Amino acid sequence: MYNPNHIFLIGYMGSGKTTLGRKLAARLQCDFIDLDHVLEAQVGMTITEYFAAHGEEAFRVLESSVLKNTPYAEKAVISTGGGLPCFFDNMEWMKQHGQTVYIKLNAKVLAGRLENNKDDRPILRHKHGEELIAFIDEKLAEREPWYNQASIIADGLSLNAERLEMLLNHK
Ligand code: S3P
Repeated sequence: MYNPNHIFLIGYMGSGKTTLGRKLAARLQCDFIDLDHVLEAQVGMTITEYFAAHGEEAFRVLESSVLKNTPYAEKAVISTGGGLPCFFDNMEWMKQHGQTVYIKLNAKVLAGRLENNKDDRPILRHKHGEELIAFIDEKLAEREPWYNQASIIADGLSLNAERLEMLLNHK
């Protein structure tokens, strides 16, 4: 069932979903849920360990099930894994159940943020510099057809929790 108080944050790794989500939830005085963490708690291992043990396909099945079966509080900000909207009917499901916000940043900015912070991100682990930017650029081109279906597209560069709250209120 659609609930406008369920706010799904989507976007590439490094776009700030978790950091912004936590701050937004504090402003709105509601729950914050990071679906990557819910999944890790459920399987008792990190995403990197899960990828190594079971592969990406199994991970995608599991993250979709975590999205659809997590019991959300009446009001909640939900941060989703970067690939989640692009598999199965996950994007459609989120749109049917709440507001969706795409935090948009270009590959260069994302790569700069991720360069020293990707050990727990198995997909990016061994990529650096120009190779990392080119890889993210390619992934964004693949993923934006889903990301762009979000009800709100927010420029990640100028975004903070206050502005995000304003965008949600003016929807
Ligand atoms: C992934 C993003 C990660 C995590 C997994 C795969 C992706 O989440 O779900 O490593 O395919 O973009 P974050 O975007 O929260 O880092």
